[in-house]
Parts: sequence; C-alpha cells; structure tokens
Amino acid sequence: MTRKRLPNALLPLLFGISLSAHAATHAGFPLQESADTGGDGTVKQSDTNAYSLPQSNLSMTKRLDFSVGNSFFRNPWVEAPASTTARDGLGPLFNTNSCQGCHIKDGRGQPPSPDETAVSLFLRLAVPADPETDAEVLRTHGFKPAPVYGTQLQTAALPAAKPEADLVLTWKTQTKTLADGTHVELREPIYTIENPNYGPLPEDLLISPRVAPPMIGMGLLETIPISEIEALADPRDTNGDGISGKLNQVWDLATGQTVPGRFGWKAAEPDVHQQSMGAFSGDMGLTSSLKPATDCTPEQKCDRFTDGGQPEVSDKIANFVTFYAKSLAVPARRNMDDPSVQKGAQLFNETGCAACHTPMHTTGTDLERPDLSEQTIWPYTDMLLHDMGPALADGRDEFLANGNEWRTQPLWGIGLAQTVNPQAGFLHDGRARTLEEAILWHGGEAAPAVARFSELSAENRRALLDFLNSL
Ligand code: HEC
Ligand code: HEC
Repeated sequence: MTRKRLPNALLPLLFGISLSAHAATHAGFPLQESADTGGDGTVKQSDTNAYSLPQSNLSMTKRLDFSVGNSFFRNPWVEAPASTTARDGLGPLFNTNSCQGCHIKDGRGQPPSPDETAVSLFLRLAVPADPETDAEVLRTHGFKPAPVYGTQLQTAALPAAKPEADLVLTWKTQTKTLADGTHVELREPIYTIENPNYGPLPEDLLISPRVAPPMIGMGLLETIPISEIEALADPRDTNGDGISGKLNQVWDLATGQTVPGRFGWKAAEPDVHQQSMGAFSGDMGLTSSLKPATDCTPEQKCDRFTDGGQPEVSDKIANFVTFYAKSLAVPARRNMDDPSVQKGAQLFNETGCAACHTPMHTTGTDLERPDLSEQTIWPYTDMLLHDMGPALADGRDEFLANGNEWRTQPLWGIGLAQTVNPQAGFLHDGRARTLEEAILWHGGEAAPAVARFSELSAENRRALLDFLNSL
C-alpha cells in the first residue's frame, strides 16, 4: 500500500505526538486516506448488518468457528436443567439471556424508553473502599462490591427468584447555546433503584451506568502492542497540552497479575476473553473456568438453583464466543471524496479531537491470528483514560480509573451506529441521541476541544459531523 508522504517537519507538531512516516497529516495528526479502516479485514457493507460480518481476510475454516461463536452469542441461554445442555444455566439473577440482547445486532445498546425496562443499560455497583483494609479487593476487583447486591444491579431473574430491583430512568434536559446562537438540547439521565428485593440498599451506594458498546474491531484493538499505547500515555501531562492520558492497570484472572486494561468504558478488563467471561458471569449468571462464580452473594441464596454444569459455559463454547467477539470486522469508510467530509477530517485534527481519538495504530503480531496481525488500523482511540469533567462523571473508581475518567471510545464505524440500531445512544450511558450531543457533553481535559467545536461556523460543524458519519 502506498501513501502520499507530506513533509512532516513543515507541519506544526501541535500536540507533540510522533508521526508515522507513512501517513499524510494535518495539524500534526495523521489523515486517513484509505477507506480500509480495519486494515485488510475491513468489510464493505453499510446496511443494518454492517457490524455483523467476520473479518474479510479470515480463512474458510475459521469462518466456521465464527458461526459457531455467533450462535452462542445470539441465541438465548435457558434455565437448567434443559434438553439443550450446551446452553443452560442462565441466572438465577441476570440482566438478559443473550449477548445479542445487549449488543444489538453486534452494535451498541440503548437506554430504555419511558415504558420499557432497562436491558442493554445496567448499573455497576460499589461502596466506598478503604485503601488499607480493602487493599485485596481493590487489587483484584478495582472497587469494593456492594454488600448483598454485589458488583452490578441485576434487574431480571428466573421465575423462582426475585430480580434485585427495578431500574427507573428519567431525564433532565438543558439547552446549550453555541457561539453562533444555535441551541442544542442535551438530556441527562437520572437513575432511581426501586423495589429492592434483598433488603435496603447501602446508603453510600455508588452507581455507574453502562450501555453496551459496539463489538466491531475488538481483536484488532487487542493486538495493538502495549508499547504503542504506553507511548501515548502522559499521566502527568509533561508535554503541557492539557491532555493527560492514563493507562489503566487491572487484574488478569488467568495469570493472577496486574496488567494494562483495554476493554470496557473504564478499560477495566485486560482482554476480550476476560471481558466476555465477565459478561457471562455478571450479565447472564453463567459460570466459566475463568469466572467460576456469578454475581450472586451468599445472602441471595442462589445455591438452591440447579446449575447448568461446572462450569456452565464449557471451555470450548467460551473459546468460540471469544473468537467470535474478536473477529467482527470494521466497516469501510464511505463518502471519503465528499469535500465536506474532507474538510471535517481536517477540523477533527485542528480542533484537538485527535489528541485523544488517536487516528491510526499498527497492530502487532499474533501468530494464531494472521488476519489481525501487522495491520494499519484507524480506530480513533488512544485506549487511555481521560478526565471528562463532572457532567459525565460516575464518581465510582475502577482500578486506576477515578470517578471522572473514561477510556477514549473508538470512533470507527460510528457513522453506522444508528443504521445498525436506530435506538442506539452515544457515550457510556447512551445519553447522547446524536453525535453533536456526544461532543457537547465532553468536559474536563476535552473542554478546550469542545470550546473550539462550539465556536465553529454551522458549515464547519456540519463538516466535522459529516466526517464522523463517514467513519
Ligand atoms: C446486559 C447487557 C450485556 C450483555 C448480556 C452482554 N454485554 Fe458485553 N457489554 C455490556 C456493557 C454495558 C459493556 C461495557 C462494560 C463496562 O464498561 O464495564 C460491555 C462490554 C463488552 C465488551 C468490550 C467492549 C469494549 O468496547 O471495550 C465485549 C468484548 C463484550 N461486552 C462482549 C460480550 C459477550 C461475549 C457477551 C455474551 C457472553 C456480552 N458481552 C453480553 C453489556 C452487555
Ligand atoms: C480528552 C480526550 C478527548 C478529546 C479531546 C475528545 N474526546 Fe471524544 N471521547 C473521549 C472519551 C473519554 C469518550 C467516552 C466518554 C463517555 O463515554 O462518557 C469520548 C466519546 C466520544 C464520542 C462518543 C463515542 C461513542 O461511541 O459513544 C464521540 C462522537 C466523540 N467522543 C467525538 C469527539 C470529537 C468530535 C472531539 C473533538 C471535538 C472529541 N471527541 C474530543 C475523549 C476525548
């Protein structure tokens, strides 16, 4: 692949990022010239199934593994005992009965509308921890689970059990006025936990709302060498650009060690496998070898229910699901020749979005996954944690991520989010109905970039959004 080379030295290195010699740049950041956002495995489909395809460079035999994994991701798990022993053991407490129930069409979830119950959005729970007396649980969980209710609020249960509680969501709206007088309405979620079925909730309960993120490109993100991510980190902002990306350090269950975190809205999981087994355990009440317990506490007496085997998700099925989760391809860019899209790409760099949404990475080598190896990819994330200000804060720590911090969300494929799931919301809790709302919620380290966005002319704001929609 040949790329046009610009004289990098002539361009202002505004944000002190080292540039690849292979990419064209603007304002010190790379400009994507190839439509193949996910490297050689990119897929050229932009309809409602755009997120559901395997890496296009996956071998025929591996495509079979992908379809087996797909069936365990998509089809519901059931109560044990059942004739379908491979997929029984659901619950007794859970959020929903399939991965697809939250990752809708392999895309993101949504906050519930007024008459619906929350499914693809749930609350993680915790209580304040003491760094000394709670050192062990902080090392292995990253937070202190709530007594009785555990690590997340499970709003569904088998018929013979009671769900933990009901989650009720209401909205408070506010209007933001941009420099040219344009008004944008923003809505902020307010959560109430009603009908707790296992005793009163702790007074000092900490909640963190999370909506299911899209599943595309996970294997590629896992294959970015950690050294490349570490090189972007600047926890004390020594380069003085106001952006201090921090790498989370989390517990790896397989090795029993602290390792860098990559997945989840606060990068609290080291890899796709542990994240997926966490989902089986916490979201669906299913045990695996890696996570032999669910989020049931002794007070919830889940032992009285028949289990679906030990573990309930066999190693074979666990590996198929992880393979699937690592193999969903990234869709190709669209409309790259549109002048507004091209202008928007430059504005994205000039405005400072690219300081966190790092446009380009090169994956390392995974001998078992040549399709994911040595790929030039355009995920638009540094995989690091940033202080996003009080408006987005959850006030609940997770390992090194504090209550203000979130991991930069990848932007690849984001233009198709609502083609895949028309109800999809943006940001960690799905509060933003549009990309513009998502941008306007940014604060903290991103405040200067958002101020620059708010000062753009209507035409230039449109261009930036056209660029995002072409991703
Ligand atoms: C009840 C809803 C729900 C279900 C069911 C669910 N997920 Fe998720 N998933 C989420 C949420 C919410 C997150 C973000 C978690 C966080 O930030 O802690 C997530 C994150 C992920 C991620 C990481 C995404 C990223 O961008 O970092 C992967 C991979 C994933 N889930 C795989 C799965 C698999 C595999 C299953 C089925 C075994 C599954 N999920 C079932 C809601 C769900
Ligand atoms: C300081 C780092 C930083 C800067 C600068 C920044 N972002 Fe973000 N961005 C984030 C983080 C972190 C999130 C996730 C926040 C959350 O979910 O609460 C995010 C989320 C988003 C989302 C929603 C993604 C999704 O999947 O829901 C969009 C869209 C977005 N950013 C676009 C932009 C644009 C456009 C700019 C420039 C005007 C920008 N960002 C500047 C860090 C940053």
